[in-house]
Amino acid sequence: MFIQRRTPALVLAPMDGVTDALMREVLTEISPFSYCVTEFIRVSALVPSDRVFLSDVPELNNGCKTLCGAPIQVQLLGGNPERLAASAQRAVALGAQGIDLNFGCPAPTVNRHDGGATLLKYPERIEEIVGTVRAAVPHEIPVSAKLRLGWDCMSSIHANAERAARGGASWITIHGRTKMQGYTPPAYWRPIGEVRAMLDIPVVANGEIWGVDDLKRCQDETGCEHFMIGRGALAEPGIVRACAQVLGMKIGPSHVDMLDGDPARWRDLLSMVVARSMICNESERRSVSRLKQWLNYAHKRGTVSWFDELKRMASHDEILARLGIYASTSSGREAA
Ligand SMILES: Cc1cc2nc3c(=O)[nH]c(=O)nc-3n(C[C@H](O)[C@H](O)[C@H](O)COP(=O)(O)O)c2cc1C
Repeated sequence: MFIQRRTPALVLAPMDGVTDALMREVLTEISPFSYCVTEFIRVSALVPSDRVFLSDVPELNNGCKTLCGAPIQVQLLGGNPERLAASAQRAVALGAQGIDLNFGCPAPTVNRHDGGATLLKYPERIEEIVGTVRAAVPHEIPVSAKLRLGWDCMSSIHANAERAARGGASWITIHGRTKMQGYTPPAYWRPIGEVRAMLDIPVVANGEIWGVDDLKRCQDETGCEHFMIGRGALAEPGIVRACAQVLGMKIGPSHVDMLDGDPARWRDLLSMVVARSMICNESERRSVSRLKQWLNYAHKRGTVSWFDELKRMASHDEILARLGIYASTSSGREAA
């Protein structure tokens, strides 16, 4: 369902604030992702309630798949092995088919509370956390770990990845940067390849894959067959289909090939997202904020030219009017 040896995979990266359920639905519909990982669910003083899981991962009510059938892995973040294990059990009881453990989040508030990348300083704790969660859920539920290369030293990945594997991780995903490197390019893929050669479990390579050329270089440098793509899939959705073609994966009729920043394709895509947001009665503020975060990546890659205008917009009406779909009037909406 998730990672299988000798079957290439393209994974949608978890991106807190962007890849919520609605975006997972849209992105898996338009791109041939093998599966996706939820934004992190924080496990601090308490095990998250059923309500939290079901609101963050409504796909639990759909066999833990998006509507178009892409599997979802539930990601947990925290530093307490027992509470993480109890949270994983709760997620599985609600229908989760796979658990991912976050050892990479660089946010200071998360790190101050013993979560995310801070654990990269303690390889033995990574083993304990993975082992405790692994032991708590049924054998057929994969438990994976998502790591950065280290806190401030790239070679930490060797010990951390080995400990995650010893704890029983089904596979590991490695973002090729330390916490201190944040999101500043480049991503360092070579250490990912060293870990792949060292371990007997699959390794998913991640970081700075913005197109087919990056994918091929990452493939060469790491020897990996599985790749996770985040911001690139937002900036230029067509790259996922192009990468899938390189990997010999199956492409479907709904998978878009928009690679050239074609305004008409962006208009169709954005209007689809806005329409879905309206149908599910999502808060407009939330929806507009997510669109801005998303299109900021497209703007930086030069695939959307009107981001400066978008930044000042506060409503669906304004965005749709800009897209030429319909205009706001004093009496309400009116078809253009
Ligand atoms: C806005 C944003 C939010 C993120 N949230 C998460 C998260 O919730 N969990 C996680 O493991 N990684 C998170 N990441 C890291 C990404 O999953 C990924 O590792 C990183 O963006 C590098 O991949 P890319 O270069 O393909 O974007 C986030 C990244 C961004 C940009």
